[in-house]
Amino acid sequence: MPGPLTTAPAPAPAAPVRRLPGRLSAPDPGWSTRADVVVIGSGIAGLTAALRLREHVEKVLVVTKDVLAAGSTQWAQGGIAAALGEGDTPEQHEVDTLVAGAGACDLDAVRVLVGEGPEAVHELIALGARFDVDATGLLALTREGGHHRDRIAHAGGDATGAEIQRALIAAVAAAPDIEVVQHALAVDLLLAEDGGVAGVTLHVMGEGERDGIGAVHCRAVVLASGGLGQVFSQTTNPAVSTGDGTALALRAGATLRDLEFVQFHPTVMYLGPDSRGQQPLISEAVRGEGAFLVDHAGDRIMQGVHELADLAPRDVVAKAITRRMHETGRPHVWLDARHLGAAFWERRFPTILATARRHGVDPVTEPIPVAPACHYASGGVRTDLWGRTDVPGLYATGEVACSGVHGANRLASNSLLEGLVFSRRIATALPGELRPWAEPVPDERPAGLVAGSVRPRLQEVMTERVGVLRSAAGLADAAEVLGGLAGTGAGLVDLDAWETTNLLTIAAALTDAATLREETRGSHWREDHPERDDARWAGHLDVAMTDGATTIEHHPAPATDGGAGR
Ligand code: SIN
Repeated sequence: MPGPLTTAPAPAPAAPVRRLPGRLSAPDPGWSTRADVVVIGSGIAGLTAALRLREHVEKVLVVTKDVLAAGSTQWAQGGIAAALGEGDTPEQHEVDTLVAGAGACDLDAVRVLVGEGPEAVHELIALGARFDVDATGLLALTREGGHHRDRIAHAGGDATGAEIQRALIAAVAAAPDIEVVQHALAVDLLLAEDGGVAGVTLHVMGEGERDGIGAVHCRAVVLASGGLGQVFSQTTNPAVSTGDGTALALRAGATLRDLEFVQFHPTVMYLGPDSRGQQPLISEAVRGEGAFLVDHAGDRIMQGVHELADLAPRDVVAKAITRRMHETGRPHVWLDARHLGAAFWERRFPTILATARRHGVDPVTEPIPVAPACHYASGGVRTDLWGRTDVPGLYATGEVACSGVHGANRLASNSLLEGLVFSRRIATALPGELRPWAEPVPDERPAGLVAGSVRPRLQEVMTERVGVLRSAAGLADAAEVLGGLAGTGAGLVDLDAWETTNLLTIAAALTDAATLREETRGSHWREDHPERDDARWAGHLDVAMTDGATTIEHHPAPATDGGAGR
């Protein structure tokens, strides 16, 4: 098993200070309510936290920006990874997770994930989630990139997330003491005199009495608001993934960690040069079942690149595809899975089959055009092993969090597991440390919004300059363009402007971190610094904000993969 390196890397310089909106300019609340705990987000992380917390605190309120099922969990195809198969162990899962994470994982967090994972999955099954089983009635397990064992449990073939979401929503519906507010954007935290949580402001779109800006006074907030994929022009993330929770936490004083490690999924269906927003994912499980990548000449792309070939860790495959696209001048490559046959496709991947056919490609008879697109934020709001952030009373779990399990590149299907495991932990720790009710202090931080109309420009520059392949010159261009977009929304009070302000906040911090990290590691690929450099860069980049000014610091830590990886 890889052991930690003991050499301490030399400290790296801090990035220059950047000014961003310190709060969103929400008008005074028109309504207010109270709850002990507010859970922001309704995917696997949020609903797991809510269902467990209700057993220990009086009132739990779940807030979600759209309807309960609109987040990323619903879209997860491949499955949930855990050492559930015969002969598999948490230790083997740990090794694969550390290797995929390219030295930047937190070993303790990974041990929590892989150690508590199997029990957490069994609890999910007990709650009502129906996973696929084999002919003997045992869980059917498959393999995805970076795994050396079959350990991915799946449901409905390729509809794992939808089944988990269904089971969780049914459980919440049967728990009338959990209040749910849908169509509600969490705008900013309300902070008490000591800097801890006193509540949260919401913008609710058309929910009867709770309409417009409101305040929920509470003793703790659990952020489970998902990712930030909409920072880029093409992503597998749904439209709601605009980094709201990440930006809210930064403004409230929490630290963001590892933002530069954005994972690009290698096989996202290519729909043409003008296609924007959420794009169809072609699960890695398709390669797990034998599909392979070829270029326009029919040459295999992954052979000779990695010992696991088409099942190499995700960043390795995304880079190989990007290289081949540059060499051939083509906007995509092909995923060939024709040999799986119609019956297998229909049984194992019914969702992907239907989606591909809807877009005019029949995977049974023709290869699927694919290209990398933004998929997952490996970094996020820094937490400890119990989901605590730096802000007293603020917890984070799921994609919005950086618990340390993913490092520089998340191992496939570890994300649903992370939400499950760390939400259970939050529900264990939080009730014993609930803060007393506190009055919010007036928010004097500098405010400011960005006009929604600048969103396409923001996404375009992030995709071109801060995407799969990065360089100092491209990152400098991006920083300049982003700087010019700030302050364009004076006087605006609308959802589009709030979301776009959050996108700009995250895009700017991500760009600054990617600029500072002068090396190539995991999903962070710098063409001007093509090698991994543990001596300078092992460890994490932490972004913090004070009064609208962000700073980035490097926190050295030993590499956790033995130092030999990507
Ligand atoms: C996939 O099915 O390829 C995505 C799974 C994941 O992102 O973990």
